[in-house]
Amino acid sequence: MSDKSPLILAVDTKEIDRAKELISATRESVSIFKLGLEFFLAHGPKGVRDLKEAVGDFDLFLDLKLHDIPNTVASACKSVRDLKPRFLTVHASGGGEMIAAAAQELPETSITAVTVLTSLDTAALNALGMNAEIENLCSEMARNATSHGARSIVSSPQEVKMLRATLPSHIELITPGVRPSGSLSHDQKRVMTPHEAIVAGANYVVIGRPITGAANPAQAAREIVASL
Ligand code: C5P
Repeated sequence: MSDKSPLILAVDTKEIDRAKELISATRESVSIFKLGLEFFLAHGPKGVRDLKEAVGDFDLFLDLKLHDIPNTVASACKSVRDLKPRFLTVHASGGGEMIAAAAQELPETSITAVTVLTSLDTAALNALGMNAEIENLCSEMARNATSHGARSIVSSPQEVKMLRATLPSHIELITPGVRPSGSLSHDQKRVMTPHEAIVAGANYVVIGRPITGAANPAQAAREIVASL
């Protein structure tokens, strides 16, 4: 499917009916929908199939953030193959072999490596024995992931410019942590507007609550797309 916009909607709910409502309401301006652990652990692959059957096919960003030994990750990938996810997330910290195993198992899917979680700051990383600067860590993780078959990277908007300058141009950059100007930042820190993130080099922005929590999600999505 061709993209209607660079906006990916985070459908963060475990209620199937709510997910249907959100997708139906916003699909005139959004063509990629992110379903994560909350939905997937509650409903599994069948829930995703039921959703697609109810609202019509859509491009799926399956945010499972896999992180395990290569053999287990490959088997997990096999379990979701028939959902044909366009994007599937794995943790870059799982290492190159793990990422290669996922990419080999799902050649049609853009394996998306999550670099440093935006919830971790320098102190939290130091507590784990990781003493590198966040930007360096993110850069090394992204380089390693893409050289092992990841075709897209999730990072905070702060790292997008550096990643765009250092990674091959075919690697797609996806960033959450964006907020339209004037809207609440919720628990997201160091936010950028969607427009700023795209100017910095992001291919896609992932947005949830500013749309899912709006009185009129269709209008909120339209306004964000218009701002890009
Ligand atoms: O509601 P909000 O716009 O903050 O949603 C952002 C989405 O992106 C959520 O699904 C969240 O889990 C996800 N995400 C994030 N930060 C990361 C990785 C994923 O906010 N580093």
